[in-house]
Amino acid sequence: MSHTCRIELDGKSHEFPVVKGTENELAIDISTLRDRTGYITLDDGYGNTGSCKSAITYIDGDQGILRYRGIPIEQLAENSSFVETAQLVIWGKLPSPADRDRFSALLTQNQMMHESLRNHFHGFPPNAHPMAILSAMLNAMSCYEPEMMEIDDDQTLERAAARIISKVRTVAAASYKMSVGQPLIYPRTDYKYCENFLHMMFSIPYKDYEPTPEVARALNLFLILHADHEQNCSTSTVRMVASSQANVFASCAAGVCALWGPLHGGANVAVIEMLEFIRQSGMSVADYVSRVKAKDSKLRLMGFGHRVYKNFDPRSKILKMAADQMLAKMNINDPLLEIAGQLEQVALSDPYFIERKLYPNVDFYSGTILRAMGIPVSMFTVMFAMGRLPGWIANWKEIHDDPKSRIYRPRQVYVGNTIQGFVPKHLR
Ligand code: CMC
Repeated sequence: MSHTCRIELDGKSHEFPVVKGTENELAIDISTLRDRTGYITLDDGYGNTGSCKSAITYIDGDQGILRYRGIPIEQLAENSSFVETAQLVIWGKLPSPADRDRFSALLTQNQMMHESLRNHFHGFPPNAHPMAILSAMLNAMSCYEPEMMEIDDDQTLERAAARIISKVRTVAAASYKMSVGQPLIYPRTDYKYCENFLHMMFSIPYKDYEPTPEVARALNLFLILHADHEQNCSTSTVRMVASSQANVFASCAAGVCALWGPLHGGANVAVIEMLEFIRQSGMSVADYVSRVKAKDSKLRLMGFGHRVYKNFDPRSKILKMAADQMLAKMNINDPLLEIAGQLEQVALSDPYFIERKLYPNVDFYSGTILRAMGIPVSMFTVMFAMGRLPGWIANWKEIHDDPKSRIYRPRQVYVGNTIQGFVPKHLR
């Protein structure tokens, strides 16, 4: 196999190196293209663009493979916890018992919000979107951590990562409590990460919520499956912001904003809204699918399709199984689940979806599992953000640690007006 690529431009031949990843992915390194030829490449939506080299997550979209630091997602789902997976994603290896203990202690030390940070919540209207609160609070949080603005060593990064991962959980639960007009619940020191979040979400004064092992496990699973997903929209955003040497809080806050959109993290909300719409309208699932397929329809089957997975999404397989088990165990009979099952059957046997390789993605089932835990729909995307923090921090770290890192600055092909003169106001 050739390790160069020849490009003919204006009768001249130019050679470019081919880069090979550890899983034999091949890429043409065109970083000198513009200097040598005056041309740039155009790749709307970046479907063919490798924006970086990264050692964090490997995805093979055709085979439905997802691995964090080389470990298959199925093995992590079976054996790991979210906190351990976060350490794996950020630092590249499974933590030793000492690493685990140190990081857990840091999470506990950092679980409280600064009391004056709580005042910020009062500036939001009661119906404020929790993603707006989360991104604003992440930036606000950084104002209380001046020593974290510059990170020069691994210990400081570990403390910053623990602060973000621990406090975002507290902020997330607090934003829910504010939205329902209940007092904020303080974290407990004797609970693990997921139990503590459930406690802050569902305890009320004088009545503690006691999370069952099944629910805590399901939450761990949900967060593990969302911990990273290579260069998706929000992670690329984090890297873009990080490349300007912005701090890790600001970079993660930008990631939250990118995740908010319904084509990305907001899809888990859109799935439930779609199922709810079908239920309330009384429309058959087949009719709804016909509406999606209609020519010029802007409607999409939410929770279906993926830019990278063109066979199946391994996360959705794991979540579907977990959702089925959990609902059976909890004896939950959710009418939306019934509709989801029908939708899946219709779509998977319909040529429209088969030809376009549209399969259920992680969001199709995540809503079901979150609903069963009692998490309100308005919090779904926040849950995704909590899960994605390790990936964002790990990607921030890759940029930060790379001595050759340069500010991200894509080019464009300008298609606007050519030069024209300024027209004075009275002549317009
Ligand atoms: N329902 C109906 N048609 C679809 C769908 C869908 N969910 N997704 C793609 N298509 C069609 C699309 O209309 C187009 O058809 P045509 O070739 O006739 O114009 C074709 O499939 C290719 O679509 P695309 O927009 O070029 O695909 P993409 O790779 O740019 O988009 C996607 C990927 C995930 C944004 C898209 O599939 C989608 O909008 N899905 C619904 C939203 C969703 O579930 N998002 C969560 C993604 S997983 C979580 C995450 O990683 O963030």
